[in-house]
Amino acid sequence: MPRRPARPAPRTSTRSTASTRVVVPEITPKTFFGHGLPGVDLEKLTGKLIVIEGADGSGRSTQISRLVEWLEGTGHATLQVGLKRSTLVSEQLEQAQQGNILSRTTLSLFYATDFADQLEHAMLPALRAGAVVLADRYIYTLMARDLVRGMDERWLRNLYGIALVPDAVFYLEVSPEQLVQRVFAKNQSLDFWESGMDLGLSRDMFDSFLKYQAAMRETFRRLQSTYRFRIIDGERSTASINEELKTRIGVVLASGR
Ligand SMILES: Nc1ncnc2c1ncn2[C@@H]1O[C@H](COP(=O)(O)OP(=O)(O)OP(=O)(O)O)[C@@H](O)[C@H]1O
Ligand SMILES: [Mg+2]
Repeated sequence: MPRRPARPAPRTSTRSTASTRVVVPEITPKTFFGHGLPGVDLEKLTGKLIVIEGADGSGRSTQISRLVEWLEGTGHATLQVGLKRSTLVSEQLEQAQQGNILSRTTLSLFYATDFADQLEHAMLPALRAGAVVLADRYIYTLMARDLVRGMDERWLRNLYGIALVPDAVFYLEVSPEQLVQRVFAKNQSLDFWESGMDLGLSRDMFDSFLKYQAAMRETFRRLQSTYRFRIIDGERSTASINEELKTRIGVVLASGR
């Protein structure tokens, strides 16, 4: 939860002194992708929702920890959320994945439940308090994973109609070849699901990882034209990616949108 007191909600106003003219941006009300959650007053969500998307090992955690340091250092309260982090079902979801016992549809609904729980109990309260919410992945990863598994796009769009439209989304794009090196260096192994082993692309996990991550990247590129998120070249240095993110997020924080 936010560690600093929230900033007062900005209002449209122009304050002038002898030498400065400060334009305080107007808050643009948030919207849901579809039907949303019931009983939410969107006008009260004065915080910002920033999403960092990207594959396993694309550098999301590295960037988010730097962004938190920067944001908190400049007086913004922050909250971090991510997939499989709800108090309601994260443990059960992990167990279900270990045993590979759910169908694609029920696994998808389990992830949607995890997302909805965090939306209702973490993201919305923090946004009401004026905080900057940093999401380590969002509905785009959930949709892309299901789409490469052949699930119906309209059904998925409807399911994630509960989600809030973020103020900004950045997708860290890293080639599958680069990802495999990073994941090996970090974990000394590949993950069953992140290698798409359930899809039967190859018996060899390494080969399957490359094929699966290439399919995910294509799907993200396709989703980009619908959802208009920004693709960031994630193969540059950590510092240069961070500078770009800070510049772009700075604009979002200042613009009132
Ligand atoms: N720009 C970069 N260039 C090279 N290596 C990087 C870069 N950013 C992060 N890394 C390294 O890649 C590995 C994965 O980074 P990180 O844990 O931030 O990724 P992630 O997207 O959060 O991964 P996960 O999906 O496992 O949570 C780490 O060892 C990290 O040090
Ligand atoms: Mg991470």
